[in-house]
Amino acid sequence: MTHAQSLLALTATRCALVTIVVMPIPAPSPDARAVVTGASQNIGEALATELAARGHSLIITARREDLLTKLAARLVDKYRVAVEVRPADLANPTERGQLADELASRPISILCANAGTATFGAVADLDPAGEKAQVQLNVLGVHDLTLAVLPGMVERKAGGILISGSAAGNSPIPYNATYAASKAFANTFSESLRGELRKHGVHVTLLAPGPVRTDLPEGDERSLVEKLVPDFLWISTEHTAQVSLDALERNKMRVVPGLTSKAMSVASGYAPRAIVSPIVGAFYKKLGGG
Ligand SMILES: NC(=O)c1ccc[n+]([C@@H]2O[C@H](COP(=O)([O-])OP(=O)(O)OC[C@H]3O[C@@H](n4cnc5c(N)ncnc54)[C@H](OP(=O)(O)O)[C@@H]3O)[C@@H](O)[C@H]2O)c1
Repeated sequence: MTHAQSLLALTATRCALVTIVVMPIPAPSPDARAVVTGASQNIGEALATELAARGHSLIITARREDLLTKLAARLVDKYRVAVEVRPADLANPTERGQLADELASRPISILCANAGTATFGAVADLDPAGEKAQVQLNVLGVHDLTLAVLPGMVERKAGGILISGSAAGNSPIPYNATYAASKAFANTFSESLRGELRKHGVHVTLLAPGPVRTDLPEGDERSLVEKLVPDFLWISTEHTAQVSLDALERNKMRVVPGLTSKAMSVASGYAPRAIVSPIVGAFYKKLGGG
């Protein structure tokens, strides 16, 4: 072997070693699990399906066990991956803690912290218990589960965390205050964490979509939100899942599916909050039935 050939071989070996040592999104393996919260419908179901299609074995969670069990059966049948069902109310600290403990003890390759709910209306008029549950789910559901999987990912120098925040977390939204504030937490936590974990080979991507749903019903079957948001703004859950997981593989800071949502997201980032707030608030007041 010439000197040049041995140098090339050494370089190739080093590259291979680097790939092995700092492999950011682990390839699917039989023992590892990708976790999806809020997997019983819409974006979470689509993320679970797309992960299974990419060969990842899963732990799927939400409250409705029947829907999770049906999804698991479909994914096992179609993609031949393992799918474990974990029904849990993530707004309940005990149930959330139990899931977090399990995740901390398992080789979790990917966490999609996706479960979230929204309320519309003036906080003073809304049920305080519902508002508090929303914070438990949207904020602590993301924070507790992320903290549970982080040590293992850092130790293995590999992992991916996809956090479902929202364009709603970019600016103040009267009549959607708890949701907007909880998503501001998710957005900022995700984008801050990413900066800390780059050197550890762990990817963190924020999914901050505009309106996303599986199918848009016709006419009277539409909810108030579906009636007020124009059709062209809705993005499919399948597309959202695909671009989100592609973005996570590339360790993109934020993914905003859809051109219109991207444009609105950029505009809301530059417009003064004092101007945006009353305009957006007037729209959300209608969603709260005001
Ligand atoms: N769709 C959009 O237009 C949009 C836009 C921006 C951001 N996002 C964010 O993206 C994420 C997913 O949105 P989505 O539209 O797919 O939501 P979705 O259709 O409302 O589904 C919410 C998911 O979370 C689960 N969930 C709700 N409460 C829970 C609880 N207490 N404990 C555990 N799981 C709970 C639900 O399952 P169970 O009812 O079975 O528990 C369901 O699987 C959310 O964080 C949302 O805020 C969505």
